[in-house]
Amino acid sequence: MKDDLVPTIDISPLFGNDLPAKRKVAAEIDKASRSSGFFFASNHGVDVLDELVKTTRKFHQSLSEEEKWNLAIVAYNKENVEQKRNGYYLPIEGKKAVESYCYLNPSFTSEHPKIKAKVPCHEVNIWPDSKKHQGFKEFNESFYWKLFDVSAAILRGYALALGKEETFFDEHFRKEDTLSSVRLIRYPYLENYPPVKTAKDGTKVSFESHEDASLITVLYQPFVANLQVEMPDGYKSIPSSDDCFLVNAGGYMAWITDNYYRAPIHRVKWVNAERLSLPYFVMLGYDSTVEPFVPHKPDEKPKRPALSYGDYFSKARVDLVVSNGQT
Ligand SMILES: [Fe+2]
Repeated sequence: MKDDLVPTIDISPLFGNDLPAKRKVAAEIDKASRSSGFFFASNHGVDVLDELVKTTRKFHQSLSEEEKWNLAIVAYNKENVEQKRNGYYLPIEGKKAVESYCYLNPSFTSEHPKIKAKVPCHEVNIWPDSKKHQGFKEFNESFYWKLFDVSAAILRGYALALGKEETFFDEHFRKEDTLSSVRLIRYPYLENYPPVKTAKDGTKVSFESHEDASLITVLYQPFVANLQVEMPDGYKSIPSSDDCFLVNAGGYMAWITDNYYRAPIHRVKWVNAERLSLPYFVMLGYDSTVEPFVPHKPDEKPKRPALSYGDYFSKARVDLVVSNGQT
C-alpha cells in the first residue's frame, strides 16, 4: 500500500548503462524530493532483507545485561572510550523502550589513517562475542557494503536529478573513508510501556520531529508503519514496506543544494508493537566538501557557504541529541 505521498521508484536502471533510462529515474527522484521528500526504492537487488530481520531479532533477543553494558556507547558507559565504536544504545526499564546497535565503516581499523590521527567521528567497530553471536559481524559487514553499493546507485540518480554528471558524488562517497553508518533499531512490544512524549497535535511519538543528519538516508522499515512526514497541512503517515528501501534527503543534501532538496521533517509515531527500523545513513568522508550550488541555475549564487561533511555532521549529530534526547 503506497501512494502519491511516497511514490515507488524502480531504481534498477541506475545500476546499468542506459543513460536515458537513468534520466527517467532521476526525474522521478526529483519529483519526490520536491514534494514529500520521501520515495520507496524498488528493484534494488539486495536479497538478504529476510536474513537481516532474523539476524537483528536474534541479536537483540539474546543480548545479556552484561553484554549490553560492555557494548554500550560512551554516553551510557563512561569506561568505553570514544575511539572504539561501542555501538549499543540501551533500553532503560520504566524509562525508555527502544534499543539499538550502530556500526560504522568496517574499513576503520586501528591502522586506518583517520583512526591513527584520532579524527572525530571515526571509530573501530566493537562486535559482540563471535562464539555467542555467530556470523553477526560477518553478515553485518557484508550488509554494509551491499548498502554502500545501493546508495552509490541512488546517488547517481540524485546527481542526474540535480543537473550534474551521474558521477558527481563519487569522489566524496568512497569506501575508504565514508562515515556512513548502519543502525539496527528495535522497538519492543511491552505491556507496561514507559511514558512517551506527546507532540503538539496530540500524537504520541517515539522520536520527535527532526531532519536526518546525513546526505541521504536509505531505510528498511518493514511490517509496522510508524513514520510520519510533515506536510503543509500537517503530519501524514508513511506506509511501511517489506521489500523496498525508504529514501529521503538529510541536512547535508539541503545545505549543498541551497535547499532545492530540503531535508523533510519527520517523526516516529508511537506504536506498541514489536518492530524494527534499519537505517543506513549515507555520509561522505570527513574531509569531503561539496560546494553548494543552485540546481539548474548555474549563474545563481547559493545562500550558504561551503561546509565540510565533517563539520556539518559533528554539529548535526550533537544538535539531534540536544533537541530529541539520547537514544
Ligand atoms: Fe529520521
